[in-house]
Amino acid sequence: MTAIANKRILLGITGGIAAYKCAELTRRLTEQGAEVRVVMTQSAQEFITPLTMQAVSGNPVAHSLLDPAAEAGMGHIEFAKWADLVLIAPATANFIAKFTAGIADDLLSTLCLATPAPIAIAPAMNQVMYQAQATQANLATLKQRNITLWGPAAGAQACGDVGPGRMVNPDELVTAVVNYFSEQEKPQLLAGKNIMITAGPTREAIDPVRYISNHSSGKMGYALAQAARSLGANVTVVSGPVALAPVECKLVNVISALDMHAAVMADIHQQDIFIACAAVADYRPETIAEQKIKKTNSDEMVVRMIKNPDIVASVAALEKPPFTVGFAAETQDVEHYARDKMQRKNLAMIAANDVAQSGQGFNADDNALTVFWPQGTAQIALANKQVVAVQLLQLIATQFNANTSS
Ligand code: C5P
Repeated sequence: MTAIANKRILLGITGGIAAYKCAELTRRLTEQGAEVRVVMTQSAQEFITPLTMQAVSGNPVAHSLLDPAAEAGMGHIEFAKWADLVLIAPATANFIAKFTAGIADDLLSTLCLATPAPIAIAPAMNQVMYQAQATQANLATLKQRNITLWGPAAGAQACGDVGPGRMVNPDELVTAVVNYFSEQEKPQLLAGKNIMITAGPTREAIDPVRYISNHSSGKMGYALAQAARSLGANVTVVSGPVALAPVECKLVNVISALDMHAAVMADIHQQDIFIACAAVADYRPETIAEQKIKKTNSDEMVVRMIKNPDIVASVAALEKPPFTVGFAAETQDVEHYARDKMQRKNLAMIAANDVAQSGQGFNADDNALTVFWPQGTAQIALANKQVVAVQLLQLIATQFNANTSS
């Protein structure tokens, strides 16, 4: 069984010379068990006949939006719903422009607008047309819309030019399709699990206009939220004030440590995993002045501070705590202090960042972590926080699954 066995691939062929390679492409996809249905534009039929494509795909080829007989068979909306993947190969500059603009004036362009399936395109065109600003802008827009681009390859072109614009070979396209579906079918380590993540700083008010806070950007916590989503978890982010927005997560906005504590405790009993990534202020002003504090003649001003609740420790102290992960920002003797913090706060795992190193950790885009749990340790090398987050989540998922199965 290959990853594309029984997958329904709608192959859209547009009018480029590389269309002749679609017979080979279709044959190889069907050899691996995929079901292929072909939709051709008018000009594609000048390069390869519908009869050839019907023979290699084993299915009638569709090319008209306004053909009552064809619509009575599989109509354009049914086609659009049928596909597991829409692959446009070759995709000409003209088709790419139409697709980007959302024009629906033939069967293939209409299908692309109507399908809920993922769409991949393999551009093929003259190298100058490929490098033209309009084409590049269209491709950038498509990428932003999560359209997958395969190619183009560079090399000798049918017109005699040399450069980027060749359609990726059928072999490589088949590999790309197989990898695409394999990726989709990777086991989701945290499917259906509930994860709560605290992120960002807290603000501790002094008076109505002033507060004490820190430089946390929330980037690490939000990256963890996205990584947890990609492993199939239902994610709640309890976040202090930051300039970020998580995708497909429940977001609870809070300001102070007391707010964050209340928001966490209100929903913690539903959670399987809790990750405390927020940089919570350890202390808050004992009282918040009702009016703006006035400058006086004195050279000193005293703000008396009292301790905030330790959110992660409150969670770990519950009778039935979730799998609780804390962070530790240390400047020296990282393992000693991190393990000590893990024990004191009764955590299942702790991720330590060495904040003495510049360019990583607080308010930076990159981070490196040393992760400790009672029976082990792992090093996550310096990388973008998104990459670090995925690795940390995989460690958490593995330890969580080991704990719950034992
Ligand atoms: O004790 P320290 O502040 O170094 O511990 C850091 C860890 O504890 C982090 O995971 C942080 O999110 C969490 N924490 C908390 N509530 C606090 C202070 C820290 O949840 N009041």
